[in-house]
Amino acid sequence: MGSDFQRIVAGIPTLPNPPLPDDWLASEMAERRLLLQHARINPGRRVVEVGSGAHALTTVPVAHAVGPQGRVVALERARWQHFREVVGASGLGPRVEALRADARWLPLSTEAADLALCVHGIRSLGHNGSCTQVLREMLRVASRIFLAETLPVARTPAQQAHLSMYGLREKVLLASTGRRDDLAYRPLAELCALVEAAGGVVEDRQTLDVDLPHALAYFPRATIDRVDDPADRADLSARWDGAFEQIRRYGEDHPPVGLVLASR
Ligand SMILES: C[S@@+](CC[C@H](N)C(=O)[O-])C[C@H]1O[C@@H](n2cnc3c(N)ncnc32)[C@H](O)[C@@H]1O
Repeated sequence: MGSDFQRIVAGIPTLPNPPLPDDWLASEMAERRLLLQHARINPGRRVVEVGSGAHALTTVPVAHAVGPQGRVVALERARWQHFREVVGASGLGPRVEALRADARWLPLSTEAADLALCVHGIRSLGHNGSCTQVLREMLRVASRIFLAETLPVARTPAQQAHLSMYGLREKVLLASTGRRDDLAYRPLAELCALVEAAGGVVEDRQTLDVDLPHALAYFPRATIDRVDDPADRADLSARWDGAFEQIRRYGEDHPPVGLVLASR
């Protein structure tokens, strides 16, 4: 991490979330920053971020990248729990406008931004029709878009451990919260096809090996108790045990990440 960015992240209080390691937030932000180095964000740019999430993990590095003259509109439909606390502690708040909205209908004018991006968010946007609608809106408000999304690829046991635990989340989240989220990761070709279906022209696609620890697939085993169907519950519990054992043995790392830059 650059020292200026490191100093900013060091000023953000750790948000304890056992059994995640204490530095989980700093580590996730470091990963987002690495991805964003491929988004061609210059100082002074206006950026729209779709699906900023509860912890502003992408918002802070984007706000850092746009510099004091740049602006970030951080758009999120539902999850704001620690957003203001994290952005406030980063000192970058004056560059950030938080907007509660559904990205399928962006409340922004055409050409409102130079770049619209979605980092680790495609998984949360729903199935193809809804993704395409969001991407079409992103391409309306900015002439360039950037996507970064984990790929369903493991090159190491620690990456496989992440995929094994992550693969349980969709069903368990739906049963425990009623929220359809954390859908299966998509291959890079599928991410590009979504962009093209929304009218975008893919300019650059690549797979990035980030080689950083990840800790966000884990969820407590007891959450599975809320799954109604006994056969599903038994299957998920057995798979959870297997995934947890992999994490215990090898740790959990970010799998490779697919990056897509596209224009109208
Ligand atoms: C997995 S989180 C990604 C958070 C963050 N970008 C990061 O780097 O970790 C995806 C977020 O997208 C939000 N989301 C899903 N569908 C949305 C929509 N249609 N409009 C706005 N936000 C949406 C979810 O609420 C969730 O907080």
